[in-house]
Amino acid sequence: MNYLITAGPTREYIDDVRYLSNASSGRMGCALVEAARRAGARVTLVCGPMEVERPRCEAVVPVTSAEEMRRAVLARDARADVVVMAAAVADYRPARRLRGKMKKRPRGLRLALVPTRDILAELGRRKRPGQVLVGFALEANDARANARRKLREKDLDLIVVNSPAAMGAMEARVEIIRRDGRVCRTVKGPKTAVARAVVAAIEEVRRAT
Ligand code: CTP
Repeated sequence: MNYLITAGPTREYIDDVRYLSNASSGRMGCALVEAARRAGARVTLVCGPMEVERPRCEAVVPVTSAEEMRRAVLARDARADVVVMAAAVADYRPARRLRGKMKKRPRGLRLALVPTRDILAELGRRKRPGQVLVGFALEANDARANARRKLREKDLDLIVVNSPAAMGAMEARVEIIRRDGRVCRTVKGPKTAVARAVVAAIEEVRRAT
């Protein structure tokens, strides 16, 4: 059983020293790596620049930007029985990256941003029979409704719904929603415990398919 797991934030560079990113620590993704290995899986981790130490696993592919993560994932998903997108991928990147260091502009600065490509949606479109695809949804409002929409639109098997409070934190409170829209688990506690519940839910889906 092969798992492909992504973790951590991405960085979208503005110039050579500045970037746009988010507060993801990589803790949830790394806890998932450990939980999957405990369940007997071989794990490939594709990770952005994380605060936490990289866990032991079969292969680690460090990346920086959303586009690099996309290429690393799409080069490896064909061999994965399970793909879990736990990374906090940036939704936008600067329209152009300036070389060197931009000088201060006394009148202020407007940054033009363009959307990054949605890796999870792409994985959903090329999912092969029997492959289990798991996404995360970070929702401030209407969590379940938004998560169910993402689940349908991206053709996921499970979605893990959490709140912005989980970002960068040690603990999380999540709901795991199945393809049929049912909430199959609600878990609150350290991310290690949440990760074990996510892997248990994945294995349940695998057994049923
Ligand atoms: N994701 C991705 N590629 C992106 C952006 C997000 O693969 N360019 C994945 C994340 O890894 C996560 C899921 O999509 O598993 C949901 O991310 P989230 O930010 O909650 O939702 P979005 O689909 O970006 O929608 P919105 O920001 O409008 O809530």
